[in-house]
Amino acid sequence: MAQVEPDRVLTEALAEIEATSDLTSLEAIRVRLLGRKGEVTAHLRAVSSLPKDERPAAGQAWNRVRGGLEGALEAREAALGSPGADTPSDDDFDFSLPGRRPPEGLPHVLMQTLDRLVEIFRSLGFSVADGPEVETTHYNFTALNIPEDHPTRDDHDSFFLAPDLLLRTQMSPVQIRTMEAQEPPVRVISPGRVYRRDHFDASHSPFFFQMEGLYVDTDVTLGDLKGTLREFVRRFFGKELGMRFRGSYFPFTEPSLELDISCTVCEGQGCAVCKQTGWVEILGCGMVHPNVLRGVGYDPEVVSGYAFGMGPDRITMLRHRIPDIRHLYENDLRFLSQFRGAS
Ligand code: DAH
Repeated sequence: MAQVEPDRVLTEALAEIEATSDLTSLEAIRVRLLGRKGEVTAHLRAVSSLPKDERPAAGQAWNRVRGGLEGALEAREAALGSPGADTPSDDDFDFSLPGRRPPEGLPHVLMQTLDRLVEIFRSLGFSVADGPEVETTHYNFTALNIPEDHPTRDDHDSFFLAPDLLLRTQMSPVQIRTMEAQEPPVRVISPGRVYRRDHFDASHSPFFFQMEGLYVDTDVTLGDLKGTLREFVRRFFGKELGMRFRGSYFPFTEPSLELDISCTVCEGQGCAVCKQTGWVEILGCGMVHPNVLRGVGYDPEVVSGYAFGMGPDRITMLRHRIPDIRHLYENDLRFLSQFRGAS
């Protein structure tokens, strides 16, 4: 085979590649130079029959040519469009075809409830307060007037991380943190996730949401609490529902109450959700205990306050008649997509 200058072959081929304007000619160049019977392929093959001392230099030179060509062909191909497809023109499109609808996301039904709760209480003058999910026993219990060895601590069946550190079992510690940080008047809600060592069943989950409310000022009364909660129920459920307050016990309130509303599932007739009573409990509440106020440096002779704690999971289930809390945490889109704009 006649000696051909590798550099000259490369220079000429690169110019030719640069000048091609369609993929078919580009492919023809590739076959002519690099195909099985291509020119460069032949030179590479011929290296082995050269005198031994010429082989390394010739091999390197032709390999460089092949590498250069491959790179140039690839770049030109990318510039001209993908193989097989000529540049589409307007004639190739059917502009009357309907577009493809991208899948539309939506907030989780629980988030819809939380957003709505925040919206309602904001309009009633509350602002949102936040606190850590990992709490100290001081904030989670002691400052809430729940002494060491009080049975309530056992009820909460906590996830402890260290002797004095746990995943918060309730949102009430945010009350303490908020009051410590500011002087009265205080009017906050704090929605968030809480944790208890419960097994999953239709009405229990080891994590769920709570929303705490707190209002402390110079003359806050039980009447204020009842009025606020009545307004909340009316707005959240969108209608006037039967309400009844029952006496209860929480260490951090005195007196303590629980609020029942008439069952939204059977409208008070009696069903499995309300255990045939026609009533369902939706929150605990009361007047902030003087010990709690004193603990954060407030004077219970001067200020008073109410507090409440409700379960967004529970009221979501009541509002949408969801029979099992597990639906809220399994993230099955077939279930969740039913609540599009439900709030
Ligand atoms: N933290 C209570 C619980 O987890 C709920 C609660 C009840 C909060 C009464 C309050 C309250 O602020 O006044 O069971």
